[in-house]
Amino acid sequence: MSGLYRLVGPVLRGLNPETAHNLTLRALELGLGGKAANVSRESLHLSVAGLTFPNPVGLAAGFDKDARVPGRMLMLGFGFVEVGSLTPKPQSGNPKPRIFRLVEDQAVINRLGFNNGGMDAAATRLADRDRSKGLVGVNIGKNKTSTDAVEDYQLAFNKLALLADYVVVNVSSPNTPGLRDLQAVESLRPLLTSLFQSRANLQEGTSRPPIFLKLAPDLAVDDALAAAHLAAECGMDGLVISNTTIDRPVTLKSPNRQESGGLSGRPLFDKSTELLRRVYRTSGGQLPIIGVGGVASAQDAYEKIRAGASLVQLYSALIYQGPGLVGSIVDGLDKLVAQDGFVSVTEAIGIDA
Ligand SMILES: Cc1cc2nc3c(=O)[nH]c(=O)nc-3n(C[C@H](O)[C@H](O)[C@H](O)COP(=O)(O)O)c2cc1C
Repeated sequence: MSGLYRLVGPVLRGLNPETAHNLTLRALELGLGGKAANVSRESLHLSVAGLTFPNPVGLAAGFDKDARVPGRMLMLGFGFVEVGSLTPKPQSGNPKPRIFRLVEDQAVINRLGFNNGGMDAAATRLADRDRSKGLVGVNIGKNKTSTDAVEDYQLAFNKLALLADYVVVNVSSPNTPGLRDLQAVESLRPLLTSLFQSRANLQEGTSRPPIFLKLAPDLAVDDALAAAHLAAECGMDGLVISNTTIDRPVTLKSPNRQESGGLSGRPLFDKSTELLRRVYRTSGGQLPIIGVGGVASAQDAYEKIRAGASLVQLYSALIYQGPGLVGSIVDGLDKLVAQDGFVSVTEAIGIDA
């Protein structure tokens, strides 16, 4: 695949980003994705929230919003894949153009606005998948025009929970008006309580998925800590830190830096890692954290793990480096863990926090 990507990558990057993305998904659906060499490493196996991961490197939400190719992405070597964000009803999202590459900054700005085909269509696809092929998380959000956020998350949860290995409650996308306000404790408590109840109501004997809460990197540390504390109190199983940022660091060089939306990739690394470190340190590792934001190498992934992440995810770096990146991060992590004298990556979690 890496060989093929060396030819196809520059062509894709010459196209409008959304067209390139749609073509990539289509190619993957047609089975053109290829397969990574063995990405299972003894030192990288770990168990988080009751799930066993072959390696801690996952695909972040947003790449496969409609659960079209989770199996194909697992074949590229990801230890787990998160699909979504999915909303109860299909919606088309914001007007195009709405994805921008910031090549000079190895970054992306998107203001997609939860474009997705809705939970029903995704549920049909997820029901058809072979669950023995790997772990797939489902990220849920609310429809733009919905007036009852709690009801939307409940609808999506009830539809998708039993088809998911884990569920992520996304209250941190900057592209749905008012969504991030749900991170405030007064709004978050009823939401998380209702999801906890919905999970308890799932049919007895079925495997009830762990629930993670995905936070924005722009939260003040105290607000992030309050949300994390509440998540634990409400019986949630983990956190995802972080979503994209509305910040525009002064160091950005690309002419696209003025576009509105969420910034991801390299310039998000420090900010998201720092928030993860603070939450891990203050909560004493009470809830496992999926660290995401700017991971583009094994070093980056390892830094997030040492800062407190049990698992990591990436998306933007895939746009610049292609699918060979997954195997190289897994390989590199295995070496970094051994270099530090650890038998297992779990020994490195949070040691720099
Ligand atoms: C084009 C694009 C679409 C995204 N869509 C979603 C989404 O639907 N739901 C979500 O929780 N995060 C979404 N994200 C955020 C990513 O999951 C991730 O949190 C963020 O991009 C930081 O990781 P990265 O720097 O490795 O890209 C999206 C990111 C990008 C670039």
